[in-house]
Amino acid sequence: SEPFTVAIDGPAASGKGTISRAVAARFGFAHMDTGLLYRAVGVRMLDGTEPVAAAQALTRADLADETRLRGAEAAQAASKVAVLPAVRAALVDFQRAFARRAGGAVLDGRDIGTVICPQAEVKLFVTASAEVRAHRRYLELRKSDPDTTEDEVLADVLVRDARDSERTTAPLRAAADAVRIDTSHLSIDAAVEIAVKLVDERY
Ligand code: C5P
Repeated sequence: SEPFTVAIDGPAASGKGTISRAVAARFGFAHMDTGLLYRAVGVRMLDGTEPVAAAQALTRADLADETRLRGAEAAQAASKVAVLPAVRAALVDFQRAFARRAGGAVLDGRDIGTVICPQAEVKLFVTASAEVRAHRRYLELRKSDPDTTEDEVLADVLVRDARDSERTTAPLRAAADAVRIDTSHLSIDAAVEIAVKLVDERY
């Protein structure tokens, strides 16, 4: 079957991961959470590796420890290494090869529709208010860290949004031809249905 790329971008905890997994499952597409790549580089930096070298040497094994990669510390480290143009450049080919594999692919991140896959057949930009996103991330994070507070999570999300939006290379932006989905007042099912319908129209 032909390659078919769905690019899903948006800020932290906007619902893009859930929507991406659901779309991939519905159409039988492969899914890549590109945030995990930056989180893996961030974690290697925390462990003392120079981030550009870490990005150039990244392998599947670096993506295995999901518990650590999903944590708040890894998220902040990820957004710090993600401002480095050489880190981003080292991860481009891997993401593009994945996007054009046979059978279709969904990639979610910050710059998929703008930089990694500007030719994607479907582009979505998923948003939600900072408060709604912080609440969602809080419910997730407190499972592994009972001391987390919602205020702390909101502050973290705002710092990361600012760093991601204000960087010079591949800032968080909706592509001009992306369809925006605001999930602030949508259930998961409703948001997934909107995304599935958009893909179905073009696939
Ligand atoms: O999506 P997630 O929250 O896991 O991403 C972690 C961080 O990785 C983001 O805050 C952002 O700085 C960076 N990132 C990026 N480009 C992507 C995906 C993630 O810069 N395509």
